[in-house]
Amino acid sequence: MPTLTIQRMRPDDAARTRAIRLRALEEAPDAFGTTLAEDLARPPDAWRTRLESADAATYVAVLDGLDIGMATGASYEWVEGSAGLFGMWVAPEARQIGAGGQLVDAVVAWARAAGFPRILLDVGDENPPAIALYASRGFEPTGVTSSLPPPRDHVTEHQRRLAL
Ligand SMILES: CC(C)(COP(=O)(O)OP(=O)(O)OC[C@H]1O[C@@H](n2cnc3c(N)ncnc32)[C@H](O)[C@@H]1OP(=O)(O)O)[C@@H](O)C(=O)NCCC(=O)NCCS
Repeated sequence: MPTLTIQRMRPDDAARTRAIRLRALEEAPDAFGTTLAEDLARPPDAWRTRLESADAATYVAVLDGLDIGMATGASYEWVEGSAGLFGMWVAPEARQIGAGGQLVDAVVAWARAAGFPRILLDVGDENPPAIALYASRGFEPTGVTSSLPPPRDHVTEHQRRLAL
């Protein structure tokens, strides 16, 4: 029976967090706001600094001892007073066994405990697995739409919200 756990990353987990984030960007380049080149260029200390912040939480899914997924909760800077769910990714070999759902649950629990009244996210219009994941957790479309920055502006997104 496979063992799946969700772990909150601490500052000493910076190298681990960087490794799985880079793997996510390589595998799903159009699913995230930043690019592989941008995150490769971040100074090593920046990964640790982010994990030291009390205003954000990064979770990694571990399957039988291997890091296979991640998600981050942080302030959603475009709507004051809102939490955001960012960087959701599960490795292809570990999809559809519940890791994504558990990562969403961890970020939602963090946002609720931090006192946010709502959590927002942006998801690609052409990303049925992610839309199914968020819909299964009760995230509903807000009507706000956007696209990734050029040259990836062909990737259109819509915002979803969960009231906490
Ligand atoms: C989206 C993603 C994180 C889903 O992770 P996952 O671990 O496979 O998701 P889960 O197994 O927890 O599934 C959660 C729900 O979504 C549904 N779902 C997941 N993948 C699906 C698919 N390919 N087709 C239909 N439904 C799907 C599941 O049926 C489940 O629904 P339920 O709770 O009602 O049973 C994963 O496919 C991924 O990393 N994709 C690439 C990166 C990406 O798109 N990230 C999102 C950026 S916004």
